[in-house]
This record gives sequence, C-alpha cells and structure tokens, in this order.
Amino acid sequence: VFMDEIMGISELEEKIKKKLGIKKVIILPGNADDDSLVIKDIGKATYKYLTKIIKNDYIIGVTGGNTMLEFANCCHETKKYENILVVPARGGLGKEVEIQSNNIAAIIGKKFGGNYKLLHVPDNVTEETLNSLILEPEINKTLNHIQNVDILVFGVGRADDMARRRKMLDSDYQYIMSKGAVGEAFGYYFNRDGEIIYETSTIGIKLENFKAIKNTIGIVGGSRKAEAILAISKIKKDLVLVTDEGAANKICELI
Ligand code: F6P
Repeated sequence: VFMDEIMGISELEEKIKKKLGIKKVIILPGNADDDSLVIKDIGKATYKYLTKIIKNDYIIGVTGGNTMLEFANCCHETKKYENILVVPARGGLGKEVEIQSNNIAAIIGKKFGGNYKLLHVPDNVTEETLNSLILEPEINKTLNHIQNVDILVFGVGRADDMARRRKMLDSDYQYIMSKGAVGEAFGYYFNRDGEIIYETSTIGIKLENFKAIKNTIGIVGGSRKAEAILAISKIKKDLVLVTDEGAANKICELI
C-alpha cells in the first residue's frame, strides 16, 4: 500500500523493467491474489498491446491457464488483420479442457478470422509414442507453424501450483522442490535463476524456440507469482511482461 501511495504506476513499470532487465513492463492496479477481476484487466491490457504489434500473416502462439483464458475472452472479434494463424504452443498439459491451450487457440483464432490449429497429444505417453506422433503429417505441419510463431502470449505459474495441478508424481515433486523450482511456463519448470529443473514430456515449443521468438508476452498476476516472474525474466531479456501491482511490489521486496 505504501508503495502505491508514493509511486505512480508508470514509475513502478519503469522500476520493475530495470530490476528485471526486460524489454517492457505493463502493470495493472491491484493484486490478482485477492481480486480475480485484476486478471480481466491483465487480459484487456494484453489485447491492447497485441493489437499494437500484430501484422497480417502473423502466427500467434498461445499457452493455457486461467490468465490466458481471460485474455482470450478479452480479445475482440476483428477483421482488421489478414491471414492470422493461432496455434497452441505445446500439446496436452493437463485435463481441464477449458483452460487448455487448444481451447484458447480456438477462441482467439475465431476472433482473428477463424484460422487456428490444434495439437492433440495424450498425457503421460512414452518418448517413443511422442517420437512417432511428430511424424504424423498433420501434427508435423502444426509443429512447423509453432516453430515459426511471430508472437507468443503465455501464462506463467508457480512450480508448486502447477506440479499439483498436473498431478505430478510425488517423487518428482519432491525432486523439483529440492532443486529450488519456483516457476513454470509452457511445460518447463525453472529455478529462480531461470535454469531448467524439469521438463514435462510433450511436443511443441522448446526452450530454444522460445528464446528465438521476436515477440513474447508473459501474462502473470498476483504477488504469489513474483518468484516465477524472476525466473522467466532471466531467460528472455526481450520479454514483455503484463502483470499487476501485487506482483510488482513483491518483486521490489525480493530484488
Ligand atoms: O498449463 C498452461 C500454463 O500456461 C502454464 O504453463 C502456466 O504455468 C499456467 O498455465 C498458468 O496458469 P494460471 O494462469 O491459471 O495461473
């Protein structure tokens, strides 16, 4: 509260941008941990930013989660852009259909003209099965699009929350916690320094692809996710972060 009183939002944005050493920070008032409406504001602000950078023929990659679903719902139906393709960044992470990247890609794809691809991958399949899946022509085409995304909009979670949401084996959970995992994004679990601790076995975007994407927009609110933001900011210096005051103030306490 003290912070809000002495500092305006745009100053706070500058401060967080410098602390994290990333390209751009957009901060919405409030704390998503206490007020779920803040996530809506993050969704709206993300759409606004997206419309500033999107161009005809762009491929947009998206991930899943509640924040991404809010963002999808905040996108307007528009015919302004030609030949936009929306793809899920990674296949099958979890059972909740509504917040899966496939559903989110479909919602956003329909709003931008109807062009989207889905990536159906069953959970917990062997390496062998994944290797043969990627040879399937349809899947292979989608994977090619994924490797060429122009803009990635993605959610970021806490490692502990995401491991539980995905019902990670207890032994794996103990392992990632002992290694200091704090954040999760597109299937990777990271420690505070942005080092990979664990990778969910699925297909789609790889960390090397992520690092090469021109426009990445991480959307993540709530003070509980501050450490996860530190982790992802270590990996991608040209990241655009859309977050809230709750997370921003917590980051100020941490670094
Ligand atoms: O499962 C998809 C995903 O984008 C994760 O990579 C991320 O950690 C999580 O969702 C964020 O979810 P939420 O917005 O619900 O916290």
